[in-house]
Amino acid sequence: MNLPNMLEAKKRDKNSNIEIYDYKEVKIDENLVGKKFFVRTYGCQMNEHDGERVKGVLLSQGLIECETLDEADLAILNTCAIRENAHDKVFGFMGLVKKMKESKPDMLLGICGCMAQEEVVVDEIKSKYKYVDFVFGTHNLDKMIEVINERVRTGRQNIEVYSILGNVCEGIPERRDSKYSAWVDIILGCDKFCTYCIVPYTRGTQRSRKYEDIISEVNRLKSEGYKEITLLGQNVNAYGKDFYEDYNLSNLLRDVSDTGIERIRFVTSHPWDFTDEMIDVIAECDNVMPYVHLPIQSGSDKILKLMGRKYTKKEYLELYNKIRNRVKGVSITTDIIVGFPGETEEDFQCTLDVVNECKFDGAFTFAFSPRVGTPAEKLEDNTNIEDKNERLHRLNEVVNKYSNEANQRCVGSVMKCLVIGKSEKDESKYMGYTENMKLVNIVSSEDVIGKIVEVKIDEAKSFSLNGTRVEEC
Ligand code: SAH
Ligand code: SF4
Ligand code: F3S
Repeated sequence: MNLPNMLEAKKRDKNSNIEIYDYKEVKIDENLVGKKFFVRTYGCQMNEHDGERVKGVLLSQGLIECETLDEADLAILNTCAIRENAHDKVFGFMGLVKKMKESKPDMLLGICGCMAQEEVVVDEIKSKYKYVDFVFGTHNLDKMIEVINERVRTGRQNIEVYSILGNVCEGIPERRDSKYSAWVDIILGCDKFCTYCIVPYTRGTQRSRKYEDIISEVNRLKSEGYKEITLLGQNVNAYGKDFYEDYNLSNLLRDVSDTGIERIRFVTSHPWDFTDEMIDVIAECDNVMPYVHLPIQSGSDKILKLMGRKYTKKEYLELYNKIRNRVKGVSITTDIIVGFPGETEEDFQCTLDVVNECKFDGAFTFAFSPRVGTPAEKLEDNTNIEDKNERLHRLNEVVNKYSNEANQRCVGSVMKCLVIGKSEKDESKYMGYTENMKLVNIVSSEDVIGKIVEVKIDEAKSFSLNGTRVEEC
């Protein structure tokens, strides 16, 4: 058994060598071959991609994926720790599995992902949730089969979580959720330590994958028919800094662009590491999509400082305007936290001012949620939950107004969309994304799933567009 440790998770060592190694296959206990598994993933795109690996490894061992929990012999919850409501969802789901296990005593339940890296969570699982069969963390996903086998061999709860800098394991089997659009990790972990954020503790130090590995993955995906790839990292703009003297995100974007894959996206960009060179590449390469997610978090310099974000409102605005002016048709979205400890009504007004100035294409907005072990957890928080929610409500009204306006400006134009499936709202329509990441519900008489098609935009809503495929017009 190995338990997570927040103090260890916080350590950083610039001189330590990050191990890069290939996935080593281990056979799963023969009694599990042919059994059905169910994986539920919460959280960000990086975690989604980890979920694809959990499924890939299980499939490679002869297990069968099932659609619903009640069919499953093995359930794995790939968790997120970013806010308390992420925790609540997982504990709620665990309750469901507990009930199910009463009639299916052989069913196995495993927990992985970011919550598994949290000391408080694992202590609770160990003492109160004995029906959880195994836990593994973000650093040993590639060793998942060993963790499961040990549980089966001993019949006891098995917790294997490491609070280490992390390593880079290449070649873990994957079962990708989409046939057209694929996630590609480029940088793992985070060293920014924004004072509110749990990620540096759950994902380890910032470590880049070798560019050769990234390029060959993109080439492989292209040859498999993928139209779009999204380069992933908690802070993609820091790509290469830990590894190379003079190879950074702009070099990587150019090299990925040269593979000829049709669409390249990247998330998330921290404003601090964004260089002019990177903006040039986005502007110049046709297959690098004109979409930037640029989290601001707050419009108040006092709060930004307390958050440890390392930029001021003025610096953010300069960068924002540079991107807007240089990249044709770009859309820019952001993340905002309200009710950070010490945020006054005046500070909140500064955030509203920035939103009014930037007129973001969209924003993900959150009420501050204290995370155990982070510096912000210890700051005095004098805003009660009602005030936080009230600010969130006011902010969302402004945010929605501008995303609606941005969408309205698209009406009448023809936009290229990558169609990813049937529309969730209307089965007779298709659903796709424009180059600048707007969701479009598309009328088309022909099945266009997996294709990039031209769509005339007929109508705009706050969160989506409606359009007709050009051939139909
Ligand atoms: N790496 C990205 C963000 C990853 S987390 C970046 O730095 O921009 C996604 C978003 O969750 C953050 O941008 C932030 O807005 C929000 N978030 C993170 N921790 C939070 C917390 N403790 N409470 C509320 N929101 C939080
Ligand atoms: Fe969290 Fe900040 Fe790292 Fe983003 S950059 S993951 S908000 S610590
Ligand atoms: Fe959540 Fe971990 Fe991602 S905390 S947001 S799943 S890195």
